[in-house]
Amino acid sequence: MATEPNLAAIILAAGKGTRMKSDLPKVLHKVAGKSMVSHVVDLAKSLNAKRIITVVAPNSADVEKDAGTEIAIQKEQLGTGDAVKSAKQLLQGFSGDVIILYGDCPLITRESIDELLATRKKFDIGLIGFYAKDPLKYGRLIVDGNIVRESVEYKDATEEQRKINLCNACIYALDAKLLFELVDELRPNNKGHEFYLTDIIKIAAGKGFKTGLTLTDETTVLGINTKAELANAENIIQQRLRHKAMVESGVTMIAPETVFLSADTKFGRNVTIKPNVVIGENVTIGDDSMIGPFAHIRPGTVIGKDVKIGNFVEVKKSTIGNNAKINHLSYVGDSTLGDDVNIGAGTITCNYDGFDKFQTIIEDGVFVGSNSALLAPVTIGKNAIIAAGSVISKDVPAGSLGIARALQKNLAEWALTFRKGKKK
Ligand code: UD1
Ligand code: MG
Repeated sequence: MATEPNLAAIILAAGKGTRMKSDLPKVLHKVAGKSMVSHVVDLAKSLNAKRIITVVAPNSADVEKDAGTEIAIQKEQLGTGDAVKSAKQLLQGFSGDVIILYGDCPLITRESIDELLATRKKFDIGLIGFYAKDPLKYGRLIVDGNIVRESVEYKDATEEQRKINLCNACIYALDAKLLFELVDELRPNNKGHEFYLTDIIKIAAGKGFKTGLTLTDETTVLGINTKAELANAENIIQQRLRHKAMVESGVTMIAPETVFLSADTKFGRNVTIKPNVVIGENVTIGDDSMIGPFAHIRPGTVIGKDVKIGNFVEVKKSTIGNNAKINHLSYVGDSTLGDDVNIGAGTITCNYDGFDKFQTIIEDGVFVGSNSALLAPVTIGKNAIIAAGSVISKDVPAGSLGIARALQKNLAEWALTFRKGKKK
């Protein structure tokens, strides 16, 4: 669908998040390696919203930085209606539609928003609702067909209204001017003593404005309030990411439910991810590469084409050239590997001295023998060979053998004598 010509997004993120029982602000908790608020900001960006305003509580520098949008401060948490009001000043003079999104609602999809915008084209206000399996404390929607008359908060609902399982996802699209006019009319005369944004629907209806309903799946609008809900959101988003990897990039997964991706993982064609693989943020995996089983690809790793990374291998912030093999039991961190490199079992790049991190450079065609330690900073030149069991602390020139281990000596018949002495 074409993007709207003039769109602003207000992302509400000033809630206290007490139920997370965490010092980290709620919206900074991550799903698929990305903060909840960033998921929502990225969605707003994908809509080409001209203005994106995140509403935060005072002293929320971390949230402001992570969101990276315009910021409105809500001085006191007086409710969702009051939160929207805090963005009024910034949007003075803006003409176009506003979409209201939530920083703790990271599963919302582009498809749902496109449907919302299509509904908005037909009505004065577009609203997303959903049928809840267990409506819990969600606001209940009172409708005539697909026109919403009113949204009633659980606290204020009658027994009869509480039986309704059509709930308010509270994601709206409407004209900016109308939004702020309606918000100005909100009063906290309800059981929560809050300015409920939900009340704008009834106020609008009283003035002859129509709110059109668009339905979405419950999981899409899941709000995260506890760590259990965070884990549930992670599960849903992982299923989406695996599906997308398999369908859009042709990734082969034998046991997709054991593979954990990040929201930004990039795949070439025909990649195979074997069971029990965890991929951190900002990772790219090139065509025909094979990862796992039991591999950890940590943030900032770029893997070339035809690479094999096998069991119990951890790679961090490294670039791995084409046709490289790191097949068993290795740690490769802060490293650059050229093409056709072979890393033997048990190789460790020693990248950290307890204070700073150092780089390891392994040029094209290098063969590193098993159980070697490469003490960074160190460079292994093109086509060099490292003898197994070496501790390499100096650069190895191209084409050379680097060997750094005690030389072997064999004591003739020593074992025979030893055994004889032990005979009873
Ligand atoms: C809200 C809706 C409810 C709906 C549900 C859907 C209202 C009054 N109720 O309830 O109808 O079914 O969402 O998930 O809107 N926030 C602020 N400032 C505040 C209060 C909240 O920024 O003063 C933010 C929170 O950070 C959060 C969002 O607004 O991102 C929603 O607030 P929350 O308290 O979770 O509302 P619900 O009780 O879930
Ligand atoms: Mg909520």
